[in-house]
Amino acid sequence: MSLSRRHFLTLSAAAAGSVALGRYLWPASSAIEPVARRVSRDGLLDVTFTAARSRLSFGRQSLAGLTYNGRAPGEVLELKPGDTLRLTLDNQLGEDTNLHYHGLHIPPTGRADDVFRHIHPGESYTYEFQIPADHPATLAYYHPHVHGRVAKQVFGGLGGAIVVRGAIDEIPEVRSAREEIVFLKDFGGDFERSPRGPEHLQGRQGDILTVNGRLGERWTLPQNGLLRLRLLNASAARFFQLKIEDHLLYLIGTDGGAIERPVEMETIALAPGERADILVKGDREPGTYRVLDRSPQTGRMGRMHGMGRMHGRGRNNEPTAIATIEYGEPVTPVGIPESLGTIDPLPEPETVHRIDLGHGMAPGGMVFLMNGKAFDGDRVDIRAPLGGVEDWEVANRGMTSHPFHIHTNPFQIVSRDGEAAPFRVWKDTVNINPGEVVRLRMRYDDFPGKTVYHCHVLDHEDAGMMGILEIEDRTRANKQRSSFTHKQT
Ligand code: C2O
Ligand code: CU
Ligand code: CU
Repeated sequence: MSLSRRHFLTLSAAAAGSVALGRYLWPASSAIEPVARRVSRDGLLDVTFTAARSRLSFGRQSLAGLTYNGRAPGEVLELKPGDTLRLTLDNQLGEDTNLHYHGLHIPPTGRADDVFRHIHPGESYTYEFQIPADHPATLAYYHPHVHGRVAKQVFGGLGGAIVVRGAIDEIPEVRSAREEIVFLKDFGGDFERSPRGPEHLQGRQGDILTVNGRLGERWTLPQNGLLRLRLLNASAARFFQLKIEDHLLYLIGTDGGAIERPVEMETIALAPGERADILVKGDREPGTYRVLDRSPQTGRMGRMHGMGRMHGRGRNNEPTAIATIEYGEPVTPVGIPESLGTIDPLPEPETVHRIDLGHGMAPGGMVFLMNGKAFDGDRVDIRAPLGGVEDWEVANRGMTSHPFHIHTNPFQIVSRDGEAAPFRVWKDTVNINPGEVVRLRMRYDDFPGKTVYHCHVLDHEDAGMMGILEIEDRTRANKQRSSFTHKQT
């Protein structure tokens, strides 16, 4: 990457010593390294990641953590539909790990998105798959997925963003925008320490709120122009709720890609695993504006027993500045685009599955359950037909929020507590608050095999809140059966 304006701003800030932002004071040098990005060439992106223990530093604080190629987050991977990703993962963690490609519509089998595969310590394994030629443009998320170790490895620092380019990137207004990846993640304390007792409801959270692994990110918003923020909540358990001083946010995409028309918002909430694509308009007084987080309290317990305080930062519900936006040189005025694409509603479902989310106590501590059961890798919980359309009605019967996530196929949100969704979206992760019932609709497109669904508060997932979905190619079985019958007659 060449010496960009970002460097220039950073260097000039460094000359001034240090930058004060919110309650933090940090040396500007923490922001010098740009986001590392690997872009596919001639249809291929070939990368090697070494996962290892490392020392991470945030301003004056230093912590033990986990990295890919020495980085937390790992490099941004950028591909186009039809491209192949070949990723060799060299496991130097001293324990099992693997990779999941959260948000990519690829097979849950073979060398693609098989989370049942373990890569043992000292081993290296090569994932290789093609992004389908009709894959929507989106921001996806790679992270480890070995059941029982997910929260720890993600909280320690493993994960990164995947950008799939496509139609939305070609809309002239979107194209004109300055784009920034906003990989949101908390750090703090000993990442290996499991939550104890009722802490388990909150999951492991830290009070160092980072963007792209750093404190004090600064972005340039061209005066009269647009800034495009690609948000990804990569925390193991922490929820974010963001706003930008004096500016509205224009939502243009969610987990599964573009929505149909921009939606104006004042704040945006992101549960762990969720993504959002937003535009910010440079139509205010040129100056510097803070990006603020006010992490929401996530459950009945939070409200009842003040456990929201365990969040550390954001105590007394004071917002925390996580980045700043600085106005840049004026450009020819650009507006927010009118339309972004179309989302065809899925047909009526053939079946409705019901899932109750709950928790209980076991001799070893808290367990998190789906329909009263903890995860069992040898049990198939739901069988569904390849190509079929089904609804899932997911009810939160517990005391804390559960972001429900499913692999392989995205879903549309039909309703929340019986109320129709306000606009159409493709998502793969949706937050469900205590007492709520969310109805999702999905089509099991293209890929048969065993896949999983789970809560994306990763401590809940590790403590049982996951199930197995097997997508079956029944047409093939039927064809075999009918040709057999034919021979018989
Ligand atoms: Cu991002 Cu199964 O997870
Ligand atoms: Cu996933
Ligand atoms: Cu949960």
